[in-house]
Amino acid sequence: MSKKEALFGNFQVKMDCLYEAIVTTCNVNLALEKITYNAAPMGVIFPDSKHIIIRPYLTTNTYKNIQSHRCAGINFTNNIKLFYNSAIKKSKISQNNFLTSKKKKIPLLKDSITRFVVRMEKMEINESKNRAKILCKIDEFENIESNIEPYNRGYFAVLESIIHFTRINILMEQNPEKGKILIDNILEYNSFIKRVYPNSDFEEIMNEIVLNLSKMTRLKIK
Ligand SMILES: Cc1cc2nc3c(=O)[nH]c(=O)nc-3n(C[C@H](O)[C@H](O)[C@H](O)COP(=O)(O)O)c2cc1C
Repeated sequence: MSKKEALFGNFQVKMDCLYEAIVTTCNVNLALEKITYNAAPMGVIFPDSKHIIIRPYLTTNTYKNIQSHRCAGINFTNNIKLFYNSAIKKSKISQNNFLTSKKKKIPLLKDSITRFVVRMEKMEINESKNRAKILCKIDEFENIESNIEPYNRGYFAVLESIIHFTRINILMEQNPEKGKILIDNILEYNSFIKRVYPNSDFEEIMNEIVLNLSKMTRLKIK
């Protein structure tokens, strides 16, 4: 194994590279008597084989939850609908999507390939970027048997569209030129998905994103 890679069972990552995960946390809601769980896609980095870095915006529930409970689940999944729902359609994420880790009862996603239980070790806040950098220690990991799907470009196009969509509202206020570029990118990815992955989950998600986009921007999108 080269120095630049870390191996967790048969799950292999390159250090310092960005991977897309879904971070699961316990919601902070003192008014509610029962605990609820939260899921949100976040880019994560492995700086070495014992830690994971998460960089949540200060406005996210994920940031607030980790700040309160100092622990989280980091889930790697190929389920693109879980990415879409946990980023944009939270109402479609039910408590049935979760299980809890054996030792510390940290929420994890049932439908994941590999999942980690982590504990916050250090947090830095970048006020100007409105973002935290949280260094987490890996306490547990688990690899789940799953079917391997060949590498395909659909994941990239749909993931990029989901992440663009989460940023459009704020960009249209702060930097409309950049906002328009993101909209054009989404429309480009939409026509690519229609051509290459018709009648798939990918197409279903893109249809919803474009529909919401047209409502949001009142553009007539064909
Ligand atoms: C692929 C992908 C990666 C993302 N990475 C981050 C990230 O690193 N930090 C962040 O704050 N938001 C990120 N987002 C956006 C959040 O997932 C989104 O704002 C989410 O609604 C936050 O949920 P929460 O408020 O429940 O934590 C990402 C979204 C996607 C689709």
